[in-house]
Amino acid sequence: MNATPTALAPTLGTLEERARQRTGAFGEDALIVCDSLVRIYQSEGVEVQALQGLDLLVEQGELVAIVGASGSGKSTLLSVLSGLDVPTAGRVRVGPWDLMSMSAKQRVAYRRSMVGFVWQQTARNIVPYLTAAENVEFPLALAGARRRVRRARAAELLDVLGVGYCADRRPSQMSGGEQQRVAIAVALANSPQVLFADEPTGELDTATSHDVLEGLRTVNRELGTTVVVVTHDSSVSEHVQRTVAIRDGRTSSEVVRRTHTADDGTEHVVAEEFAVLDRAGRVQLPREYREALDLVGKVRLALESSHVSVWPDRLPPDRPQEPPTRTGRHRAVPAHEEQQ
Ligand SMILES: Nc1ncnc2c1ncn2[C@@H]1O[C@H](COP(=O)(O)OP(=O)(O)OP(=O)(O)O)[C@@H](O)[C@H]1O
Ligand SMILES: [Mg+2]
Repeated sequence: MNATPTALAPTLGTLEERARQRTGAFGEDALIVCDSLVRIYQSEGVEVQALQGLDLLVEQGELVAIVGASGSGKSTLLSVLSGLDVPTAGRVRVGPWDLMSMSAKQRVAYRRSMVGFVWQQTARNIVPYLTAAENVEFPLALAGARRRVRRARAAELLDVLGVGYCADRRPSQMSGGEQQRVAIAVALANSPQVLFADEPTGELDTATSHDVLEGLRTVNRELGTTVVVVTHDSSVSEHVQRTVAIRDGRTSSEVVRRTHTADDGTEHVVAEEFAVLDRAGRVQLPREYREALDLVGKVRLALESSHVSVWPDRLPPDRPQEPPTRTGRHRAVPAHEEQQ
């Protein structure tokens, strides 16, 4: 056999040529682009790096969930995307809006026209002394919409979210889940292109939380709104196509769900987990992988024809052969030489 796997590896020249052909700026076609975002908080002389070079692309029309441990940077990311906070470094764009260089006036316009928000605390989203319909009409009135238009829009949105029957109720006459679905309708009143929701199910039980996540899915499907939702709800990946996990201020892995049609026509939902390779070439290895092979400190990398392998620094006694090293990655070893 002449062709060893090493011999099939692309040459450095081929890889460089491919890289040259990839022109375009990072994420130029995406609706939301976070490129190496850094957010450092200073409090009482202590520096907290809430975002540590985070990359994220969201396409127009996507419904994306963000999950991650407490303190991993989810709310910081959403504050940046919603125009409430400015990152320390990096690049962030939503549609035509460059969030790093917006003036205060542009920031207000961005928040009014481009994006809508839903927060965890229901009280922060809706006014307690107004009915559900009045709550949805309120931002429309501020924007100068006529009464008839406001009424029709409020009725439509409450219907889409399955809470049309709450139109004349005040928040105190609704359940937590109903209030959050009304809050989503309020956030959508001015037809934003993107809806951000930070833990909208945080105060709800499982069944009610399911209704709210389904509400977001309906909004995404029927109104075409791009939705980014932060949640602790572990069942969220059942409701969305893409779940992005954040660890230590960076996107670390993604679960993508797609519908697969078998030969007999039956449809199955397939969920696949990917590690995220960031712009600087970093990948976070899951803890169980690191522990299983005792990977600490240094590892050996080898470029194969179709993948990259990661090897422990110290070779196990039952594997005396050296793995390919980084420097030797493009060396094609003739078969006869190998057999010696
Ligand atoms: N205003 C602030 N000043 C100082 N540190 C902050 C500030 N806001 C957040 N942090 C810190 O930044 C880190 C990320 O916080 P963030 O609120 O984004 O986490 P989170 O993923 O939303 O967590 P949770 O799931 O608990 O809501 C944390 O270590 C937090 O203590
Ligand atoms: Mg948070």
